[in-house]
Amino acid sequence: MRRGIFISIEGPDGSGKSTQIKNIKDYFEGKQFEVVFTREPGGTAIGERIRDIILDKNCKEMDYMTEAMLYAAARAQHVSEVIEPALAAGKVVICDRFVDSSNAYQGYGRKLGEAVAVINGYAVKGCMPDLTLLFKLDPSVGKDRIRVDQQDRLDAEAEAFHQDVYRGYLQLEKQFADRFCGIDASRSIAEISTEVCTKLDRILAAWESRKAGN
Ligand code: ADP
Ligand code: TYD
Repeated sequence: MRRGIFISIEGPDGSGKSTQIKNIKDYFEGKQFEVVFTREPGGTAIGERIRDIILDKNCKEMDYMTEAMLYAAARAQHVSEVIEPALAAGKVVICDRFVDSSNAYQGYGRKLGEAVAVINGYAVKGCMPDLTLLFKLDPSVGKDRIRVDQQDRLDAEAEAFHQDVYRGYLQLEKQFADRFCGIDASRSIAEISTEVCTKLDRILAAWESRKAGN
């Protein structure tokens, strides 16, 4: 049974996810939780090797289904090796991108649709986030924040691709309204941090009442 709290962070590239993750980590550590911070693709030795292949700008010929399956393969390893054991031990897991990135980028951006949800069902095995914070920012603004020499294979995709991904995220937010929480990421870092902490207060209260009920 899950004893911990699982939070995933989603949004376009450059929307400020990494910047806010430190704030989230500090929030839970301040409340004496053990926090596991991890990321996708990656988070395990095997997953980081898969990451190198997926994000390599030289892998220009990569088939979209190959790409989707590689993300799912890295995720299967991540869930079984890191996320499930940490949650079973009562830790807070903060994951920089999770299955919704595949649904948005491969499902909507690459237009692979439902196939992405199907293959990820095998990878995730029901281990879904309690809360998904979606950093909402027009992808063109996010892209301007990333230096060209730091762009990976996905960052370097055309504007139209990133707009499709973003529309996908907005769809997912509606579809999974029970766990998604949208954050207006066009504001200042301090304003966003305050809103994020308010959302975390809420998820923590829900977790405490769940625990008290057990
Ligand atoms: P992501 O992890 O979503 O790709 P980052 O947190 O790395 O995004 O942020 C990308 C860039 O934008 C960094 O240079 C960061 O300092 C800057 N940044 C982050 N949040 C904001 C914000 N609210 N306003 C302006 N710039 C920001
Ligand atoms: P990363 O540098 O981790 O993200 P960011 O640019 O937001 O800091 O790069 C990961 C890239 O991979 C990013 O462009 C999103 C993409 N991605 C997918 O297409 N599908 C997925 O399932 C995941 C986890 C990421």
